[in-house]
Amino acid sequence: MEKVLYNGEIVNRSDCSVQLEDRGYQFGDGIYEVIRVYQGKFFTLEEHLDRLFLSAKKLSMDSSLDYTTLLSLLKKLVDVNGVVNGTVYLQWTRGVAKRHHQFPVPSAKGTIIAYTNSLERPISNIQNGVSAKLVEDIRWLRCDIKSLNLLGNVLAKEEAIKADCFEAILHRGEIVTEGSSSNVYMVKEGKLYTHPVSNLILEGITRKVVKRICGEENVSLIERQFTVEDLKSADEVFITSTTAEVMPIINIDNEPVGGGKPGKLTVLLQNRFQDQINQLGALH
Ligand SMILES: Cc1ncc(COP(=O)(O)O)c(C=O)c1O
Repeated sequence: MEKVLYNGEIVNRSDCSVQLEDRGYQFGDGIYEVIRVYQGKFFTLEEHLDRLFLSAKKLSMDSSLDYTTLLSLLKKLVDVNGVVNGTVYLQWTRGVAKRHHQFPVPSAKGTIIAYTNSLERPISNIQNGVSAKLVEDIRWLRCDIKSLNLLGNVLAKEEAIKADCFEAILHRGEIVTEGSSSNVYMVKEGKLYTHPVSNLILEGITRKVVKRICGEENVSLIERQFTVEDLKSADEVFITSTTAEVMPIINIDNEPVGGGKPGKLTVLLQNRFQDQINQLGALH
């Protein structure tokens, strides 16, 4: 029987239900995380929980669980479900209250749920690369918060999928921001660029891992805005996310990019990323 985390306890999935007046359900008033599990072990769990609690703080959301309790419940969940390779989806809403736009007074107890999925690594896409479609970034101006409000992302991804692409690369006017569910990078004249951390992008946990790797490999990661034209004429393009890892983009809007194959620096970062996954076994 599959278990889930619900109201601070590990229970059967069938014993879990959404309340009609949960603010996550009615307003998208909540936050979430997707956390990777490799060989039964969490990858960058603490970084994800740090970002979760930071998002909660930015939205003045109360927790029904403290950090340490949540961390141990998530580990227990992965164990009881016997997850080998997969993800944990965690969602935390402002809780259940009569429907008014303003925050409930007194504040509601936040609803935290989590469940597991099995998911293998996307080896073929990582090795061969994928296509992307450029889509105007119409999202709100607090993309730094990992909010449940994902309509801008959903519409962009749908456009990409309809065009037979793996990801939508978003741009505000001329400026490339990020993917619909990933961060975006380009290599030009031997230099690696990505959008700086700001309200216009989510600071990805995989982005942090890649930044760390760059430091170790003496690759300078330049956190600076670049344009759609820069991207189209780049020597290499790749995206990162918890589920996509370091994934080469070899085609944008039906035009090959970076010679239509994964680039040298991309492959180096992929190899070092793979090392980090392999190290999980050694660390625990
Ligand atoms: C909009 C957006 N940017 C970036 C990312 C990458 O974040 P992470 O590496 O933490 O998965 C995601 C992940 O879902 C995302 O939704």
